[in-house]
Amino acid sequence: MALLVAGVGELGWTVRVSSRLRRGPLVTAGGTALRRYTTGDEYLHRSIVPTMHYQKSLPRLPIPKLEDTIRRYLAAQRPLLNDDQYRNTEKLAQNFQSGVGKELHAELVAQDKKNKHTSYISRPWFDMYLSARDSVVLNFNPFMSFNPDPKPDYNNQLLRAANMVCSAVRFMKTLRAGFLEPEVFHLNPAKSDTKSFKKLIRWVPPSLSWYGAYMVNAYPLDMSQYFRLFNSTRIPRFGCDELFTDKKGHHLLVMRKGNMYVFDILDRDGNMLKPAEILAHLRYILVDSAPPPDFPLGFLTSENRDVWAGLREKLVEMGNGETLALVDSALFCLCLDEEPMRDHIHISHNMLHGDGANRWFDKSFSIIIVKDGTAAINFEHSWGDGVAVLRFQNEVFKETTERPQLNPGTPMATVDSATAVRRLEFRLNGTLQNSISKAKENFKSAISKLTIAAMEFKKGGKEMLKEKKLSPDAVVQLAFQMAFLRQYGQTVATYESCSTAAFRHGRTETIRSATIHTQRCAHAFLQQPGRYSVEELRSMLTECSKYHNKLTREAAMGQGFDRHLFALRYLANSKDMALPSLYQDPAYAAINHNILSTSTLTSPAVRLGGFAPVVPDGFGVGYGVHEEWIGCNVSSYPARDVEEFLRCVYKSLDDIFSVLEGKSIS
Ligand SMILES: *[C@@H]1O[C@H](CO)[C@@H](O)[C@H](O)[C@H]1NC(C)=O
Ligand SMILES: *[C@@H]1O[C@H](CO)[C@@H](O)[C@H](O)[C@H]1NC(C)=O
Ligand SMILES: *[C@@H]1O[C@H](CO)[C@@H](O)[C@H](O)[C@H]1NC(C)=O
Repeated sequence: MALLVAGVGELGWTVRVSSRLRRGPLVTAGGTALRRYTTGDEYLHRSIVPTMHYQKSLPRLPIPKLEDTIRRYLAAQRPLLNDDQYRNTEKLAQNFQSGVGKELHAELVAQDKKNKHTSYISRPWFDMYLSARDSVVLNFNPFMSFNPDPKPDYNNQLLRAANMVCSAVRFMKTLRAGFLEPEVFHLNPAKSDTKSFKKLIRWVPPSLSWYGAYMVNAYPLDMSQYFRLFNSTRIPRFGCDELFTDKKGHHLLVMRKGNMYVFDILDRDGNMLKPAEILAHLRYILVDSAPPPDFPLGFLTSENRDVWAGLREKLVEMGNGETLALVDSALFCLCLDEEPMRDHIHISHNMLHGDGANRWFDKSFSIIIVKDGTAAINFEHSWGDGVAVLRFQNEVFKETTERPQLNPGTPMATVDSATAVRRLEFRLNGTLQNSISKAKENFKSAISKLTIAAMEFKKGGKEMLKEKKLSPDAVVQLAFQMAFLRQYGQTVATYESCSTAAFRHGRTETIRSATIHTQRCAHAFLQQPGRYSVEELRSMLTECSKYHNKLTREAAMGQGFDRHLFALRYLANSKDMALPSLYQDPAYAAINHNILSTSTLTSPAVRLGGFAPVVPDGFGVGYGVHEEWIGCNVSSYPARDVEEFLRCVYKSLDDIFSVLEGKSIS
């Protein structure tokens, strides 16, 4: 057994080594001999545990028991309904559980048993995204902006762009070579995030490796989404879009002033250009004097998906097929923006939607870099979730700030950029020109309705909350509930996303953070001062925190109710049957009309994260609980007042912290 294990590991290793040895010096088009980045130089790092080591033995995403799902569903509905509505919903849910739901559940379980390579949610979830016809802009694509480089002279647009492109390509190469450290969630890093553990676990065969990690309280995460980071795009098709990945894409797509450029960033053997060559090509693009196009094609990616699908066919008929293919197969998209950023809010707007001309929103992700070096990632959401993109962002930030490939003053390579870089030209006729103008109008009108605001609470954060034995996330979620109640006098459907990447092909589950506990507590805080003692309020806070922790743990273990009900509905839809009455309940529609859509993120690489509301009368709430402070970036449409909401969130946090310090609230 031991020998067999060693043999398998050894084989993977040798194959990789020999393919690395084949590369040597190459000659560029210009005839200059350039030392390519060979051997160790081309990778971010070289994990001794292969990237996909745990993938095969990842546990499967469980399908919750139907009774549990119904119980959790009803508990989440309780704070949103009055007694009559609740009784009705309860009846429908119970009928579902003992009737048609039971059959659907049995079928879902049977189907899942036959598809062990994936998870029960994978297909319905891809379909949900890809068949949505709304624009991906605002409705789906989020952004995460990078913190500035701590060394000011690295924050210039050209240098930062070149460094980020280099690190992004090196990330891809590291991933492809299987050298990228597997993503593992360590509960006890002192034990599992160590060299000795890695040295040991690498010899455990992939079919068992997960158990080895589990034994030391480490949870390897699903990495099946990673390959879609690169060479990928979403292609509009009537009814349902398509995800496209071209494993042979060698080029980078660069956008500036609405013009699109491509250049080969890898040679035919897959070696990256020298950083100084990349620098030269990017500079060539930055100083290109071509005027902005009258009809920037990028606007089309912000259209309704069916409209865009039709226009894409016309573009192909006009002979633009090959050019579009270059866009689709590019490694990723780099957007170089002209206008410097004024503040956080300006950054959020620019990175979430920008002016529309200088974006290709369908690309799996784009790195956007502004004149002043401010950088962000905007990503298309159907192919993957925040976990994969954040890992990429963290690695790129780490390398560009700690071990940049280029430094201020690094001379540019003397290469013939005019030959290497190609500006894409599209053939358009009157119909297409009009359609682009129309898309532009739609885009401008959509973004003009979006307001973004931010708030920073500096009186305390994670540290203080942990000291008081409260879950930081629970407290901030409670503050949102309190704020909404204060502002609008209501408890509404609330969505907090939670990753289920601990399972094979897991995606996300919803934490329903509006609970009877938060409702009770929020009401108590809003009563006239003195009605409840500080002690009473504190014990309610503890109650909220405990319950929120339970919901979070359950969601992360795949034990929510949202995905299960969603999959059962998807199954019902695929059959020739009437939609079960549970799904026709107005309360079901209401709990899925998520007025508070929330997502949290903290990372040393990330400065701001944000997204638009998911419904016209909602808030899109990105937040972070830092050691000593709490930040929120919130968006809304005219139906809501986002500034007032943030004032209410601030007031709620202030009250909660007062109570925690033993003070009564005013
Ligand atoms: C993208 O294309 C390049 C060039 O062919 C290739 O080396 C790389 O493996 C591809 N990446 C992915 C993730 O498929
Ligand atoms: C433009 O080309 C498309 C595709 O060939 C065609 O459907 C459309 O009618 C053309 N429009 C004009 C004004 O020629
Ligand atoms: C904005 O969002 C990020 C990520 O969600 C968060 O960490 C940060 O605290 C927020 N910043 C501000 C200024 O609100």
